[in-house]
Amino acid sequence: ESGPLRDSFGRSGEDLRISLTDKCNLRCTYCMPAEGMQWMPQSALLSPEEIVRLVTIGVRDLGVRELRLTGGEPLIRRDLEEIIGLVNARHRALPVSITTNGIGLADRAAGLAAAGLRRINVSLDTIDAETYRQLARRDRLQQVLDGISAAVAAGLTPVKINAVLMRGVNDGQAADLLDFALAHDLELRFIEQMPLDGDHGWTREAMVTAAEVRAALAARYRLEPDEEPRGGAPAERFVVRAPDGERLGRVGIIASVTEPFCGACTRTRITAEGTIRSCLFSHEEFDLRSLLRAGRTDAEIGRAWRQAMWLKPRAHGMDHAGLDSEDYVQPERSMSEIGG
Ligand code: GTP
Ligand code: 5AD
Ligand code: SF4
Repeated sequence: ESGPLRDSFGRSGEDLRISLTDKCNLRCTYCMPAEGMQWMPQSALLSPEEIVRLVTIGVRDLGVRELRLTGGEPLIRRDLEEIIGLVNARHRALPVSITTNGIGLADRAAGLAAAGLRRINVSLDTIDAETYRQLARRDRLQQVLDGISAAVAAGLTPVKINAVLMRGVNDGQAADLLDFALAHDLELRFIEQMPLDGDHGWTREAMVTAAEVRAALAARYRLEPDEEPRGGAPAERFVVRAPDGERLGRVGIIASVTEPFCGACTRTRITAEGTIRSCLFSHEEFDLRSLLRAGRTDAEIGRAWRQAMWLKPRAHGMDHAGLDSEDYVQPERSMSEIGG
């Protein structure tokens, strides 16, 4: 077997996401319970060398073209700069990005850029300190804002902002968040809350839909469909204009639940424990770590990865089944354990 990774529905897997840890220093209500989760043991996590080996197999043998490092919170890994540096030394042309909550980023943005990081997405659901404290259950807004400024200064651009709206908490702040993003040249994306939270508290009624986000923004701005093709990107993008027509920037909406984009999905993911999980909503994982640690060859590991990718589900099925009905089964793993 050779050529790019493929699943049985004809999609490729060129967009690799590797989670570096399931741990996080926030407790966002849409993700984790206040007490945190049962963390993976340290020995289960992939080492920098193991990560680089998997990236090399992906890039050299399986057609991977892009790498995103996620978590949990990837900045929790003290060796994040080392991991990026090693990947970059082996694969100069591979674009490497991270998705982070921004805690501790202010001190590390320049070093990450120097190690070879290209881009960064930061989670920020509100610019109001009290709302932040309520949502993230930690009083850290200023640190995140400082982190975003440092990332921009370090050239990790375009900096994208991920925002989840929670009904009755920050759903009245969508336009304020967009004001902030436009003023700081950040690319804001609103994400529909997915049923991947650790305490299984998601309900369809509580989820703020893409249609609601568009309506909220239309009260202050004019939104027009973006002229650029979307490709496999999760976000549907809009050009933002002032009421008088002046072009102000862009905004994205990731409507995973109400307007799913599974047909165009090109992702292949590896959890922090080294298992292949082709879809966020998979019910199966394939263990590559034990192959790595048992001294198996690159060819054997590549073959296992191909097989796992072939079995990727067609779609998550949340769109038609009533999610809170018995037809939809939430995966056992939460977002932080899978890797955002
Ligand atoms: P870029 O657009 O390249 O910057 O990356 P991205 O949007 O894929 O990255 P990010 O990690 O910031 O993901 C943002 C959100 O998109 C995630 O929190 C998810 O809500 C959603 N998302 C990312 N990947 C998937 C996926 O494979 N399936 C679904 N349903 N949603 C995804
Ligand atoms: N639904 C949607 N987005 C989520 N995130 C975390 N949990 C959920 C969820 N249940 C977001 C974070 C981060 C990104 C990786 O995923 O806010 O920006
Ligand atoms: Fe891809 Fe699965 Fe996300 Fe659909 S739900 S876009 S198939 S990872």
